[in-house]
Amino acid sequence: MNKPHTLDFLIRDQVLQIAQNTPLPCYVVSKSVLQKSGQMMVDAAKKLPYGCEVSFAVKANPRPEIVKIFNQMNIGIDASSYFEVLLALSSGVEGKNISLTAQEFPENDQDLIDIVNQGIHINATSLHQLERFCTLFPGKNIGVRINPGIGSGYNKRLSTGGVAASFGIWYEYIQEALDIANSHNCKITCVHTHIGTGTDPQEWRNALLITLKLAENFPDIEKVNIGGGFKAKYMEDDKDADMDKIMEILAQELELFYQQNHKKLILRIEPGRLLSVHAGSIISKIIDIVDTGKNGYTFLRLNTGMTEIIRPAMYGAQHPLVVVPIKENNNETQDYIVVGHCCESSDCLTTAKGNPEEIEPRLLNKAQIGDLLVIEKTGAYCYGMSTVGYNSFPEASVIFVD
Ligand SMILES: Cc1ncc(COP(=O)(O)O)c(C=O)c1O
Repeated sequence: MNKPHTLDFLIRDQVLQIAQNTPLPCYVVSKSVLQKSGQMMVDAAKKLPYGCEVSFAVKANPRPEIVKIFNQMNIGIDASSYFEVLLALSSGVEGKNISLTAQEFPENDQDLIDIVNQGIHINATSLHQLERFCTLFPGKNIGVRINPGIGSGYNKRLSTGGVAASFGIWYEYIQEALDIANSHNCKITCVHTHIGTGTDPQEWRNALLITLKLAENFPDIEKVNIGGGFKAKYMEDDKDADMDKIMEILAQELELFYQQNHKKLILRIEPGRLLSVHAGSIISKIIDIVDTGKNGYTFLRLNTGMTEIIRPAMYGAQHPLVVVPIKENNNETQDYIVVGHCCESSDCLTTAKGNPEEIEPRLLNKAQIGDLLVIEKTGAYCYGMSTVGYNSFPEASVIFVD
């Protein structure tokens, strides 16, 4: 990269104004950007021949305000825990628009009974969960998440399938799953996978084909859920998944499946990142500038870090960083390592791409202590994922702008 990033949806005056009126760091969320992403997804989903349910993977940003915006657009909720189900219900989402695909079921049967009675659809992610559900709800419909034996991910820490992933029922145990369901007169009506691919429509075709192949084993199948994992543009050389193209290709495969199997399957997708990532920015302050001598680095120390955004430390994720000078804007640039305020050497925002073990200087506008720094593309997996409480820093506020 040979020139610094510029601001995303905020403008400089707005950043300065927010910084004056709100304790920093703070998350800023754009309602119009959320609506635009939601509309893009809803429009793309219209291409599916037998219906497509779009649900927001609420783990990406578990704010009730965001859930409410998507709910108004008829976007459902994909919950990964019982508590995310409660969040969705208390934000006004109807049970029938929520599905729960979780590593952990609620411990008390009564909690599970309460949410199922409200219409929440469950995808069992293990034979144990399936057995528990079918025992509690004989005769009811359920979905199963299957680990198809392959997965993909930005790196190993993000891999969603294969022998090293615990998510879902291993594909060789499909007969056991059917036996459990049959013995309680339950029907498995939905097959769920999350192969989590990327931007290439052909990869999505493959992900759906794998899921359809699994679905052929289930005589009562009505729906396939291919999870989320639609990639988003963070840095210059990334791009957003083209949902129109992907949906066109998936529509073709579902039509073909109908011709061959006489089953009109509904598609469910669970995008998290692509629905919310572009709508978030973190405004922080540069609290110090230190260096490690002429063969070393110059570090910008922020009053944020893994307390608000842990992805760079965890995965070597890349986020655009924009210095917003308090005084005159200047065109001078400099290479910096940008670090957070935690007593933790991994609290670094300029780790190398995909490699949190390495730090990598980033070209930014020249900064002074007291200037602001905006971290872009923080609408997904930042607010909900960070190490709130570490070093006892207070929780950052979240403000919504139009
Ligand atoms: C089962 C499932 N669905 C949906 C998602 C959302 O993925 P993304 O935010 O990349 O779209 C995830 C992410 O891990 C997931 O595991």
